[in-house]
Amino acid sequence: SSATPLEDLPRGLQGVVFLKVTSVTHWTDRTFSFTCERPETLRFRSGEFAMIGLVDGERPLLRAYSIASPAWDDELEFYSIKVEDGPLTSRLRHLKVGDEIVMRAKPVGTLVHDALTPGKRLILFSTGTGIAPFASVIRDPETYEKFDEVILTQTCREVAELDYGRHLISGIADHEFLPEIVGNKLRFIGTTTREPSQLMGRMTDWLRDGRFAEATGAPLDPATDRVMICGSLDMLKDHKQICEDAGMREGSNSAPGDFVIEKAFVD
Ligand code: A2P
Repeated sequence: SSATPLEDLPRGLQGVVFLKVTSVTHWTDRTFSFTCERPETLRFRSGEFAMIGLVDGERPLLRAYSIASPAWDDELEFYSIKVEDGPLTSRLRHLKVGDEIVMRAKPVGTLVHDALTPGKRLILFSTGTGIAPFASVIRDPETYEKFDEVILTQTCREVAELDYGRHLISGIADHEFLPEIVGNKLRFIGTTTREPSQLMGRMTDWLRDGRFAEATGAPLDPATDRVMICGSLDMLKDHKQICEDAGMREGSNSAPGDFVIEKAFVD
């Protein structure tokens, strides 16, 4: 996407592509999302992450970011936290339309259909910006070909942090071709832990005390449910334990299973 001939670039910048930013949305003082051009040759599976960032002098400053847009989209979308002293996000937060970000190499990841065996319910557990890969998965037609029911959960500290997910869901309802594909298969359960809201508490607690079963119609069941998990290391550990206690096996690209996990990447 860049007009700069590769041989003219400093060594550290060879192998990256420059992508023009097409929109920026600030959701809260802690989170924002942006879209950029997609390289014509870029192929990825919904749910994967890529190395993106900015140029710092002659070197790229890159971090892993889940691609929040679905694989069919001609733009790329990312959802990011703003870390006060974060080397990358403290600069990335000032992005404006027309600026350029850089991206390196091929997207990879485990939050993909290939890493799960067939099932009936797909349950996507996230906290904070861990919702990003699922923003991609829930807009992918393959998700609805493979599952009868898709449940996305996101737990955040404050109510305003749920806005990105709510907007995502209403965007699907208003989309030109997604409503026909998604039908009434998709549900979003957003909970808060540090500010009062209609639904409160960590989803791990909901799973343990029966609120999850009550809200969705059934407890976690390895016979019917497949799970993807994305959040902090502690969150992953707790959710993984709950899946294993329910009799589920962890999957990977080389050996598909009942649940898959990936760390939500932070600066
Ligand atoms: P809590 O407020 O009870 O810590 P963070 O910003 O720290 O990553 O947290 C984002 C959200 O994830 C918060 O609502 C937080 O709840 C929740 N959370 C943190 N740790 C866990 C965990 N181990 N399991 C489930 N949810 C968690």
